[in-house]
Amino acid sequence: MNITFIGGGNMARAILGALIDSKITAPEKITVSDISTARLEDIKNKYRVCTTSSNTRAIAAADIIILAVKPQNLDAISRELVGKFSPGKLVISILAGTNLESLANSLKHGEVIRAMPNTPAQIRMGMTAWTASPAVTEEKKKAAQSILSTMGKAIFFEDEAFIDMSTAISGSGPAYFYLFMESLVEAGVELGLPRETAIEMVMQTALGSVSYALKSDAGLTTLRQQVTSPGGTTEAALKIFESEGLKDIIIKAVAGAHGRAREIGKC
Ligand SMILES: NC(=O)c1ccc[n+]([C@@H]2O[C@H](COP(=O)([O-])OP(=O)(O)OC[C@H]3O[C@@H](n4cnc5c(N)ncnc54)[C@H](OP(=O)(O)O)[C@@H]3O)[C@@H](O)[C@H]2O)c1
Repeated sequence: MNITFIGGGNMARAILGALIDSKITAPEKITVSDISTARLEDIKNKYRVCTTSSNTRAIAAADIIILAVKPQNLDAISRELVGKFSPGKLVISILAGTNLESLANSLKHGEVIRAMPNTPAQIRMGMTAWTASPAVTEEKKKAAQSILSTMGKAIFFEDEAFIDMSTAISGSGPAYFYLFMESLVEAGVELGLPRETAIEMVMQTALGSVSYALKSDAGLTTLRQQVTSPGGTTEAALKIFESEGLKDIIIKAVAGAHGRAREIGKC
């Protein structure tokens, strides 16, 4: 399986590193194309893959083309590559907010997959939601699932509407968790903890809480209740979260992200 990346930036490197570690395909069967020769040199040295500054050359022998440029670069790529995607080539796009119809229309190619990874993909702890156009065969979907799973978890959705929903939960999700953690650090500092100590405590608490929830058979509500003794400290905090409407704020914020994802998709 020959795999080509168009764009050799952060996400391409995350997928590239994961692919090579997983041994799904040999480095010499991977080609990366980018406009920066310095970036290509660096990628070649680090991953031992083939590199080129010609997108046309990069896709010529590719079975799977991973589109990893910024959404604003899609027009230029399409103008350059239109008509060069022969039948049987599979395009996997990770462009945020660019729907299957726009991809297929821009590239004039029917076999397209739209995937939405998130930043923890950089350390193979990502959550990717993906969907495929009707022209993508089951065999190609299997190949896509194994490629995307190298970055962490990957969930296929038949209905593309779920990609916008996933964008609002797992795509933007890391930022929500970081905001909560930043706020907890500030709260600790306000109480008098040294900042470094507060950061260490918050990081370990987040890591421990998620790891414990993953290992435990109890659901999230039970795990929360286990920490909440009547009249205790946790209850005092949770009462304030509740009276200030934290859950409603989160639901509203996620609806805002979802609305924006749908809007961008229509552009
Ligand atoms: N980062 C994330 O967490 C994340 C999550 C989900 C989805 N995504 C999506 O992933 C895509 C890539 O994001 P990224 O963070 O990896 O971006 P990035 O670091 O900017 O990588 C894009 C690369 O493509 C190069 N490029 C631009 N035009 C090109 C062209 N015509 N031909 C070949 N290469 C070209 C860029 O070069 P220049 O920098 O010189 O322009 C850059 O090296 C985006 O569409 C983004 O929406 C990212």
